[in-house]
Amino acid sequence: MSSNFLTLTNLRNLYLDFFVKKGHVIVPSASLVPENDPSTLFTSAGMQAMTPYFLGEKHPQGQKIANFQRCFRSEDIDRVGDNSHTTFFEMLGNWSFGDYFKKEQIEFFFEFLVDVLNLDPSHLYVSVFAGNKDLNIPRDEESAHLWQDLFQRKGVEAKIINNPRQGLQGGRIFFYDEEKNWWSRSGVPASMPVGELGGPDSEVFYDFAAIDDVQHFHQQSAFADQACHINCDCGRFLEIGNSVFMQYQRTQDGFKELAQKNIDFGGGLERLLTVVEGQSDVFQSSAFTGIIEKLVELSQKDYKEAQLQPAFRIIADHIRASVMLIADGVLPSNKEQGYLLRRLIRRSLRQAKHLNLEKEFLLDIVPEVIKLYQDLYPQLKAKEKHIDDVLKNEEQKFNRTLRRGLKEFNRLIVNKDQLTADLAFKLYESYGFPFELSIEEAKTRGIAIEEQIENKIAEANQQHAVLSRQSATEKFKGGLADHKDRTTAFHTATHLLQAALRRVLGDQVQQKGSNINVERLRFDFSYDQALSSEELAKIEQLLNQWLKNDLLVSSEILSKKEAIESGAIAFFADRYPDEVKVYTIGDPEDWVSKELCGGPHVEHTTQIARFGNLEIFKEKAVAEGVRRIYIRFKAI
Ligand code: ALA
Repeated sequence: MSSNFLTLTNLRNLYLDFFVKKGHVIVPSASLVPENDPSTLFTSAGMQAMTPYFLGEKHPQGQKIANFQRCFRSEDIDRVGDNSHTTFFEMLGNWSFGDYFKKEQIEFFFEFLVDVLNLDPSHLYVSVFAGNKDLNIPRDEESAHLWQDLFQRKGVEAKIINNPRQGLQGGRIFFYDEEKNWWSRSGVPASMPVGELGGPDSEVFYDFAAIDDVQHFHQQSAFADQACHINCDCGRFLEIGNSVFMQYQRTQDGFKELAQKNIDFGGGLERLLTVVEGQSDVFQSSAFTGIIEKLVELSQKDYKEAQLQPAFRIIADHIRASVMLIADGVLPSNKEQGYLLRRLIRRSLRQAKHLNLEKEFLLDIVPEVIKLYQDLYPQLKAKEKHIDDVLKNEEQKFNRTLRRGLKEFNRLIVNKDQLTADLAFKLYESYGFPFELSIEEAKTRGIAIEEQIENKIAEANQQHAVLSRQSATEKFKGGLADHKDRTTAFHTATHLLQAALRRVLGDQVQQKGSNINVERLRFDFSYDQALSSEELAKIEQLLNQWLKNDLLVSSEILSKKEAIESGAIAFFADRYPDEVKVYTIGDPEDWVSKELCGGPHVEHTTQIARFGNLEIFKEKAVAEGVRRIYIRFKAI
């Protein structure tokens, strides 16, 4: 079979067959919504369920396994629009649990690319880990030389380069630091919590210069003033596979080697297909052309028009991902997986405006997605009607919101010289019109935008949450008393949490936002690394100690100046009136927490404890330098 006629399906099969021949057993793809793993919303890598086997537990299928795994990476949402990023993708994976290691892995992947897929080895480039002395992790000379040998055997020159960011320099094998050549679920070594596994990795890149005009990528990209190198984001090079040498575990003060050496390989199926098909754009591979052609037909716009490409790509990616998420049981909602799904759908509908797609169109895309996947995911066909219903319902709802919101936007903006946070918030609160859309509308029409509008909107949102809790309390006494008491308890716990975070992590920790419902408290704060399990345990312990100590919660009215001088914490300080309420928790002379706040709060911390102990059940990054922590009650 000529490799030019591969489809998604037979490329998958070629990979699996190859690894079966190499003695691997194939395991099925897990759901996009991981079971029994509360630490994460989505399956984002094939290795997610493999941790116990890297640590030495026996896998029921043996030490060598392979699969294809459907994955969703929400953190890549904002990168979709270029020629390679997608939120949903399939990862080809192979694993060795203490069986083969670097030599075999590097040879397997090279053989698959060059001898099975017939890729020209002179279009392939690789990266290896440069080592880190502080962490006592050596430079991966072994992999560099294994690669060099393989290339040379095919008659391809393979120079090794130590300063990769200076440009290609005629090289083929490049030593990068841990920013690029270290893999763990939390990223670089410094972000890894104690106990997490990781290791150096070696990535393979395909050079599109071979099949397209290079100028088109680098010189017209945002990186044009820097040297182009294989990890440059200009679009010339595409990463097609990553071999992780899973051999370390994070400890309290560094890393320890695992008792066994493991391989964790992941390759992007759609990316490989793109390369095999001689394309330089994932969205022009047969994994996407059906969807893109449908969008072209519906919109009568040209995909080749550079300005329109991001809209085509975003819609194609997001709807494909939505179909797969709905098939795995996700429904649009305002939290967790459902929130991401809603965001994908709404973002697609907004992008559709750039293609002048006015009428409902989501359902026209669904059959194109199902066609691609029905042979391997038979549940898709059976769920088609359900998928249609969910998408249609969400599309109609959002279109109504947009129409109404836009009308109000027009009405409210008349005679105003700028879009203010208050106005954007009002449109959101009363009509559900997304903040980003108000900002986008203002930009398109050349209307000025209040400075720092995003932060101000976030503040307004938070104040609103407190006010609506208060008014709910007034409205529904009795039946809802317990709910009211729980949210009040969480409100006081928010202050305790902030105090505990500052004690354990330092005073630079600052609140960035919070949100409470009857089940849990969510708190965002500035901090630039993941919290270790020790830190989390310490914070939890402090919180529960404070509940046990039955601290007094008292309040007083002070001038803003007095309040600040007393050491009270005030976020959004410029927003407070001259006279402020200050809540103190603990002995007024030796307090645990002191904060400017409107309340309401419990009077004694044991009133929190009556719902249970406080338990941190999740901690993650939400933005650059901002962490999010979730707390709930755990029955004692
Ligand atoms: N787990 C590795 C990755 O996701 C293979 O890149």
